[in-house]
This record gives sequence, structure tokens and C-alpha cells, in this order.
Amino acid sequence: MLYDRNAQQPGYGAVAKSLHWLIVALLVVQFAIAWTMPDFGRGAKPEGLIGLHLSFGTLILLVVIIRLAWRLTHPVPLLSDNVPPWQHRAAQALHFLLYAILIALPVMGWANANARDWDVSLFGVIHLPRIVAAHSGLGMALGDVHSNFAIILLVIVGLHVVAALYHHFMLRDRILLRMLPERR
Ligand code: HEM
Ligand code: HEM
Repeated sequence: MLYDRNAQQPGYGAVAKSLHWLIVALLVVQFAIAWTMPDFGRGAKPEGLIGLHLSFGTLILLVVIIRLAWRLTHPVPLLSDNVPPWQHRAAQALHFLLYAILIALPVMGWANANARDWDVSLFGVIHLPRIVAAHSGLGMALGDVHSNFAIILLVIVGLHVVAALYHHFMLRDRILLRMLPERR
């Protein structure tokens, strides 16, 4: 559970906030790399920008898992005021969907890399095991799904940002403020 009406803490702590904005920053870097890296034709090698894409993707996967584990063990109330139960469920479902895509996306890229007979590592330091065999049909097919899911993630993030701004400027509640660093 991400949200719990009876949670001990009133809102997001420094860890949850830092992890949220760290993922945002890593995704900006990752999309910049993805859109400038060379084409993945036959004979492409996991070097240069392609190598960076694999490493940053692995880093995102690790940070997302840590972040989700942190949030599941540190629930917060949805809002300081009472919100109707359907809104509680909708927000929770949409945020879980974001986490699910943030995990599925790198895993599909990882499978595609293995199908191309590439090893996946975190900047050469931590090596991930192979999850599909070289030339696996499934792994190859997941390459296209991976690229399409990246666009779906962008669309959902777009809606997420619009929702955050709507809360801030139209509803004038504290939703956006409670995800920002605390002002003294
Ligand atoms: C959240 C993290 C990730 C994002 C946002 C992301 C995004 C993208 C995008 C937008 C493309 C399409 C690039 C193009 O149009 O030319 C792409 C392709 C690709 N990515 Fe990722 N990626 C992520 C993680 C990973 C990871 C972890 C790996 C492997 C370990 C990976 C491996 C690949 C591969 C192999 C392709 C080429 C797929 C193909 O065209 O068949 N990605 N990625
Ligand atoms: C790459 C972009 C982003 C991703 C993947 C993302 C993902 C998420 C996720 C998964 C949550 C649920 C957090 C939790 O309760 O564990 C969340 C919460 C939140 N995000 Fe984002 N976010 C992104 C960008 C943004 C941006 C740019 C804004 C601001 C305009 C924003 C504002 C918020 C706010 C205000 C919350 C808290 C909602 C609440 O209090 O329930 N996010 N985000």
C-alpha cells in the first residue's frame, strides 16, 4: 500500500522526495541518450551511447525497486483532508501503474539486449544475469514493445504532471507542495 489513511507520517519524507526527483532526472538523461544513440541495426555493439543507455536503464531499474520498497514500507495519507474513497483508489492505482511501467520498461530492454547477445551491467561494475537466451524470439520482439512502452510512459507522465499542476493551480491544495523540498 502506497497510501494509508492512518499512516504515522503526515506526508513524504526526504527519502521519498529525493527518490522521486532522482528518477525524474535519470529519465531525462535516459530519454536524451535513447533519442541520440545510433540505430540498433544488425552489427550494433553495446558501446558508446548504447552502452550508456543499458547502464542508465539498469540504474533506473535499481533505484525504482528501492523506491517502491521504501514507499511500501513508508505509507503516507493521500491528502491531509479527507478525499472520497474512489479518489483514494484511483490515485493509488495510477501511481502503481507508473511503478509497474518503470519496472517493466527496463526489464524488456534487458531481455532485448540479451537476445542481441549483449551482457547488461551497471557501468561494468555489477553484471546482471541473462534473462533470455541469445537470439530468443521473445527477447527480440520485446525490443519494439520496449520502445513503444517508453512513449506510453511519456504520455502517462504527461497526464501525471497535468494532474499535479491542476491540483496546485486550480484546486489549490498541497499535493504538489508536499512532493517539493521543504521551505524553511
Ligand atoms: C526506464 C528506462 C528506459 C527508458 C526510458 C528507455 C527508453 C528507450 C527508448 C525511447 C528507445 C527507442 C530508441 C529509438 O527510438 O531509437 C529504447 C530502445 C532500446 N533500449 Fe531502452 N530504455 C530504458 C531502459 C533500457 C534498459 C535497462 C535496457 C537494457 C538493459 C535498454 C535497452 C534498449 C534496447 C536494446 C533498445 C533497442 C530496441 C530495439 O529497437 O529493438 N533500455 N529505449
Ligand atoms: C519522469 C517523470 C515522473 C515520474 C516517473 C513520476 C512518478 C511518480 C510516482 C510513481 C508517484 C507516486 C509516489 C508515491 O506515492 O510513491 C509520484 C508522485 C508525485 N509526483 Fe511524480 N513523477 C514524475 C514527474 C513528476 C513531475 C514533473 C511532477 C511535478 C510537476 C510530479 C509531481 C508529483 C507529485 C505532486 C506527487 C505526489 C502525489 C501525492 O501526493 O499523492 N511528478 N510521481
